[in-house]
Amino acid sequence: LKMNVNGRAQRTIWLKKKNPQTVQIIDQRYLPHKFVVEALKTLNDCCCAIKDMHLRGAPLIGVAAAYGMYLAALGSPKGFSHSKWSQWMQKAAKTLISTRPTAINLFIGVERGLAAVQKASSRTEGISMLREAADGLAEEEVENCRRIGEHGVAIIEKIYRKKRQTVNILTHCNAGWLACVDWGTATAPIYAAFNKKIPVHVWVDETRPRNQGASLTAWELGQHKVPHTLVVDNAGGHLMQHGLVDCVIVGSDRTTRAGDVANKIGTYLKALAAWDNGIPFYAALPSTTIDWQIEDGVNEIPIEEREGEEVTHIQGLSGRKIQKVLLAPKGTKASNYGFDVTPHKYVTGIITERGIASATKEGLLKLFPEKKILR
Ligand code: MRU
Repeated sequence: LKMNVNGRAQRTIWLKKKNPQTVQIIDQRYLPHKFVVEALKTLNDCCCAIKDMHLRGAPLIGVAAAYGMYLAALGSPKGFSHSKWSQWMQKAAKTLISTRPTAINLFIGVERGLAAVQKASSRTEGISMLREAADGLAEEEVENCRRIGEHGVAIIEKIYRKKRQTVNILTHCNAGWLACVDWGTATAPIYAAFNKKIPVHVWVDETRPRNQGASLTAWELGQHKVPHTLVVDNAGGHLMQHGLVDCVIVGSDRTTRAGDVANKIGTYLKALAAWDNGIPFYAALPSTTIDWQIEDGVNEIPIEEREGEEVTHIQGLSGRKIQKVLLAPKGTKASNYGFDVTPHKYVTGIITERGIASATKEGLLKLFPEKKILR
């Protein structure tokens, strides 16, 4: 079963069938009110889409960056020597990397492209290798998410076997298929459970200020008919105190080798409340989200700061028009940290494509022994 929109299988990013020199994406700024497909034709189009969040979510940002490298190659002057072309591509890589700082997947997508550039002997060969690299990463992420679902469903199944009633899962932000290419990370086990007819219900945190929960997670769960309820970000603690949450599953933008998890701002507070109430807290992520170079998430993961306008204003549908309105007194100074870090001691487990690891160095290395070399 694939992820659907109005019953039709849909991915978040793909090459235009009739013109594979164009990358197409769902422009998420208009969801859930309008389903808009945007065509990305240049490196600049791709950088804007990442920076201004036409697309977002760690795995999708990574895949988009890999396609950005492909678009940069397509846009390079035809007569370029190999070394000139290679310089051009290095510059493109720098531009892409500067779009958003937190999701490590962005860097992985760019690195996959740079590896293709290194192997290519000419611009023409490079273009086709870059396309293959991006297509390859997209397929890899689809498979990663599918496997996260396969492994993660065991957690939900176990709760259900004990409880024999609907399993209530709380999630924060959008770590669904919209944040990936297909399936999602945090939502993959939920879709897998739903497909297995295990009764599930999802508490969807609205996720201020961009409201990815309200506008994206609620929409995609709705498309799949997965029962869900939207709640304000501050409701989680109350729900947990009253036995209304069986487990929390979130995604991640960057996880350290020790299992510290950076995710959308507010995730840490959910983990604290889960800890206080003895509720399991899982992060679901593909290994492309693990930064093996760092250990201490709070001190080492760069946290994006975005425009205060995202806090002072809010966007929604008014009549038939999508509009932005002001919430705070005009001119109010607002700060807008995009992410926070949940220290690994609050994380019950990390659901990856290779299985569920304890949130420790040892646990992660047991699943990914080949990463030992990097330390
Ligand atoms: O700012 P965003 O919308 O890109 O942030 C996304 C998140 O925080 C997701 O939870 C995270 O990328 C995991 S998604 C699979």
